[in-house]
Amino acid sequence: MVAGLRRLSEADLNGKRVVMRADFNVPINDGRITSRKRIIEALPTIKYLMDKSAGLTLLSHLGRPQKPGPEFSLAPVKYELEKFLGINVQLISNLGIHASEKLSILENTRFFGGEERNDDDLARTLSSFGDVFVFDAFGVAHRNHASVSGIAKYLPAYAGFLVERELDFLSELMDNIKRPYMVVMGGSKISDKINLINSFRKLSDTVLVGGTLATSFLKAEGYQVGISRYDSEGDAKKILSSEKADKLRLPNDVIVEDQQGKTRETVVTRIRQEEAVFDIGSKTAGDYAEVLKKAKTIVFNGPLGMVEDPRFRAGTKRICEAIRESGAISVACGGDTAAFIESEGLEDCFSYVSTGGGAFLEALEGRELPGLKAIVR
Ligand code: 3PG
Repeated sequence: MVAGLRRLSEADLNGKRVVMRADFNVPINDGRITSRKRIIEALPTIKYLMDKSAGLTLLSHLGRPQKPGPEFSLAPVKYELEKFLGINVQLISNLGIHASEKLSILENTRFFGGEERNDDDLARTLSSFGDVFVFDAFGVAHRNHASVSGIAKYLPAYAGFLVERELDFLSELMDNIKRPYMVVMGGSKISDKINLINSFRKLSDTVLVGGTLATSFLKAEGYQVGISRYDSEGDAKKILSSEKADKLRLPNDVIVEDQQGKTRETVVTRIRQEEAVFDIGSKTAGDYAEVLKKAKTIVFNGPLGMVEDPRFRAGTKRICEAIRESGAISVACGGDTAAFIESEGLEDCFSYVSTGGGAFLEALEGRELPGLKAIVR
């Protein structure tokens, strides 16, 4: 139970219009949503607000668009909401249009100039969609954006039920971290994660690294990584030469693919110039599983391979199963991680699956999250 949280149950919503920030940044493949978790988990707050208020407008971002485009439209989310709720949902694509349905959703907030630099004019315009602001976008709480923190300056703000649940779990976890405390980190948002790795290298006992993140470290260690994606090599070098770098575990074998689409398993010293790394190898998966057996607390963020392709799922699956076998208190966090767990039916491997990725990790680091400022007294 988080002290000082401005809970939705305390809000007087009678006759009031509500604007709610959700995190509908869901994975979309060929126009199809591949994980509905973030939508499903927002439904209790949406239903409550539709019942108690005079009208609800939802805000969310989707992806990281450089400019507005149909591939980043929230239209698929609107259709999903219509299916779940059995009502018409209005998609507002222009800030000058006003909500005319009981439930409406504004187009991707990152389509509007100023969202990411927390522009005050945009924040004020967004606030005009409601008399009360509800923040239920835990996954984006670490962003100081107009629709996250800026808008809360203009309206009374409350935490939605999803945020309440996430914070309750987080505070319980933080009060009871049992050691060995291990972090498994993969995924592809490398520049975001380099700093997190740096923190968890100090906070936890072991950090097992996979995904594109691991390739950056392998490159920094001087291995040939061929045509693999990697990033932030300089930062990775710095981390590797710093104190407690020995807490980081890197893959010693990987699955690679060449330009002809041929895959093979190889030790990291034998990656060829024309190959790219796409998963941890079976020896690494076995070694990581062995290490995880001793853990009492595990945080898992980011798939260890390119799991969108079924050929590169084995490493991540093996690690999820090892987490189940460890019996540790375990949490999985991050949109891609949650989508993978859902698609493989691996929910029972974890004590808790969070809707947040970076937000969950930054909170666990002890950082103040901009999106939570207005909803905690
Ligand atoms: C997430 O998926 O982690 C959140 O929706 C935040 O998205 P962002 O990293 O693009 O800000």
